[in-house]
Amino acid sequence: MATIRKRVLKLLTLLVLLIFLTSFFLNFSHTVVTSSWFPKQFVLGFSENLKRFMKYSHRPCTCSRVCVEQRRVSRWFDRRFNQSVQPLLTERNSLLGEDIYRWWLKLQGEKQPTDLNDTIKELFQVVPGNVDPFLEKKAMGCRRCAVVGNSGNLRNSWYGSQIDKHDFVLRMNKAPTIGFEADVGSKTTHHLVYPESFRELRENVSMILVPFKTLDLEWVVSATTGTGTISHTYIPVPAKIKVKPNKILIYHPAFIKYVFDSWLEGHGRYPSTGILSVILSLHICDEVDLYGFGADGKGNWHHYWENNPSAGAFRKTGVHDGDFESNVTSILASIDKIRIFKGR
Ligand SMILES: *[C@@H]1O[C@H](CO)[C@@H](O)[C@H](O)[C@H]1NC(C)=O
Ligand SMILES: *[C@@H]1O[C@H](CO)[C@@H](O)[C@H](O)[C@H]1NC(C)=O
Ligand SMILES: *[C@@H]1O[C@H](CO)[C@@H](O)[C@H](O)[C@H]1NC(C)=O
Ligand SMILES: *[C@@H]1O[C@H](CO)[C@@H](O)[C@H](O)[C@H]1NC(C)=O
Repeated sequence: MATIRKRVLKLLTLLVLLIFLTSFFLNFSHTVVTSSWFPKQFVLGFSENLKRFMKYSHRPCTCSRVCVEQRRVSRWFDRRFNQSVQPLLTERNSLLGEDIYRWWLKLQGEKQPTDLNDTIKELFQVVPGNVDPFLEKKAMGCRRCAVVGNSGNLRNSWYGSQIDKHDFVLRMNKAPTIGFEADVGSKTTHHLVYPESFRELRENVSMILVPFKTLDLEWVVSATTGTGTISHTYIPVPAKIKVKPNKILIYHPAFIKYVFDSWLEGHGRYPSTGILSVILSLHICDEVDLYGFGADGKGNWHHYWENNPSAGAFRKTGVHDGDFESNVTSILASIDKIRIFKGR
């Protein structure tokens, strides 16, 4: 009697273990495995999951929150997020598809663009064209990023020290930190600009140029190599900048179109720097926190460094659909892909 009970116990333990292991690997798999209990298929499925486990365990995300790129958390997200679109322009991926090139050319209606192939070639003689500065993500457990927008809701927020604790701190356009450290922090790792929104950056900050026209790429060359021939686009732009060429990265035009098509579903004429920074961060970070997005507590849209709260700096620009962009970030927050800090 006792031995039979022991045997049953053993069998039960084994069964529980088997169920546990199976559910572990099924849970781990990123696609729905229609569970089939035919031995052969089961073994195949098991080894498939094992392979996947080995592959993904090269870069385990050790965040306490669910990592951004985790599939099957939200279908809305999975339909939009495409990991294989590359955020940065490099020598290797610089050949634009015809449809992308034509779309990009229309953004600012450039009348007589120079040959893009020539321009890019020239560009990569100046800025590094073969680096992927985000690749080391793969070796990191959890890359936490703060994307800091320019909203007046940062005023008196005291977010500064919290922002500075992130691995990456992305800022954009004319955003200053000096004099606003308590609210916006002092650390910057990446700063997104286009020629018309340029500000000088500290030496250790990577500048990410967002090109909206061919002239923007030419400007990088002109402004860093000292020829300084471009001082005016549609408004005056700095003819020379101090940023070192080796700290310059180029946002990929195809990625701009991806943000426009996949995330904004064609709303607005083209994406704002704000939403371009947010979607970029989804691709290069494991955890994303947003600061300084949206209106302030009184519904005003203005920059945190401006004293005129009714300036409405961003909302009604005519080229961006601020409402739709803000819906996208709200949805991202509602499915826990990002967190939004709205000021206090
Ligand atoms: C993702 O992007 C790649 C590269 O641009 C493209 O070839 C592919 O079709 C896209 N996948 C989806 C599901 O849209
Ligand atoms: C760049 O060169 C490729 C072939 O190398 C060509 O197909 C493409 O049309 C060129 N693009 C432009 C903008 O000239
Ligand atoms: C960049 O340099 C400043 C001093 O110029 C320093 O305080 C800061 O810690 C540096 N930031 C990074 C991310 O290395
Ligand atoms: C944003 O979301 C709100 C609430 O869901 C909706 O009423 C509104 O139409 C959306 N705006 C845009 C521009 O899609």
